[in-house]
Amino acid sequence: MILQNITTGLFLTITSLAFAQNSKQMSELIQNEFQLADKQYKKLMKSIPQDKMPQSYNASIDKVTTKDITWWCSGFYPGSLWMIYEQTGDPEIRKEAEKRLQLIEPNKTFTRDHDLGFMMFTSFGNAYRITKNPIYKDIILTSAESLSTRFRPGMQAILSWDKMADFKGPVIIDNMMNLEMLNWAAQNGGNKKLEEIAIAHANTTMKNHFRSDYSSYHVIDYNVNTGEVFGKKTFQGYSDSSAWARGQGWALYGYTMMYRFTKNKAYLDQARHIAKFILNNPNLPEDKIPFWDFNDPKIPEVPRDASAAAIIASALLELGQYVKADERKNYVDNARQMIVSLSGDHYQAKAGTNGGFLLMHSTGGLPLHSEIDVPLIYADYYFLEALKRYKDWYLQ
Ligand code: GLY
Repeated sequence: MILQNITTGLFLTITSLAFAQNSKQMSELIQNEFQLADKQYKKLMKSIPQDKMPQSYNASIDKVTTKDITWWCSGFYPGSLWMIYEQTGDPEIRKEAEKRLQLIEPNKTFTRDHDLGFMMFTSFGNAYRITKNPIYKDIILTSAESLSTRFRPGMQAILSWDKMADFKGPVIIDNMMNLEMLNWAAQNGGNKKLEEIAIAHANTTMKNHFRSDYSSYHVIDYNVNTGEVFGKKTFQGYSDSSAWARGQGWALYGYTMMYRFTKNKAYLDQARHIAKFILNNPNLPEDKIPFWDFNDPKIPEVPRDASAAAIIASALLELGQYVKADERKNYVDNARQMIVSLSGDHYQAKAGTNGGFLLMHSTGGLPLHSEIDVPLIYADYYFLEALKRYKDWYLQ
């Protein structure tokens, strides 16, 4: 008994020491990352025309590539700037963030695709969280109303794209992410119907988008009027039956976020199942940065997707908030490994390089021959979010 007590005490001391060491290392890592991000984004901001948003960096010609404001990623740059400003208090970063918000504000009435949540909540959502400026809140509420016009009662889901390939009523797993803005708006002065739409979409997606192992299809093609499923397909993945890595990340993040707003246990369980699929997948490499698709037969000779790792890490950290200690430890340990890998030499650019982006080695659309093994603005965004979440929730 005494021996058992001594052994248990020793174990606890070692565990606590390891925890303290981890905490110290992570605290330093996170602080360094935000300092680096501050420097890098001051470099990045110099390369972006006044009317565009950063997309990626072409190393062979040393050029930052940019897109128009209606591009689905236009919110990630201002959102990242706000998160950097929050940690460093750098006024130059805030000034750029405010300037870029002004530029994308007209998107609040954009209804041509489903990506308004990505565009307006990663940007104005962070801005409002940090400043509590009521103008930002109004913009979010208007954006949520605009997004809700894409809800199709016949299929009980938000239509992702109007016209894309041969799809008739496409809904992509990515669309789960846009529900965050609807839920938030409904709980912050907006119409309650916005939450009903989010719930309907999440339920329809839970019914049709998942295989028995909880991996997700990319695109479900619906009859918009009846909800009949015409096909289960991919657009950006290896094949219709494969698990496109970023799509698994969107699914994990999406159901964890749905649980945050609704406290419906079905969403929590869905997120846990998805986490299990990802974390137990034999094709998840040791450094925990997924290959671009879990089922590409050429693994390991295929590109990674650092953006998928950043999204998954951020989602796991939130999922860890909703479960008991043992399960939390698994999620947080895995997320930490992802963060440590992403901040290591292989994935992270040296200061002053990479056009100013933080991370390298993301893959946007391999089958589309687009954005392969490059920096991507949303990889940086979700990486910064994961760092902030780790600091806020696991370093106390
Ligand atoms: N939402 C588009 C993508 O993940 O590439």
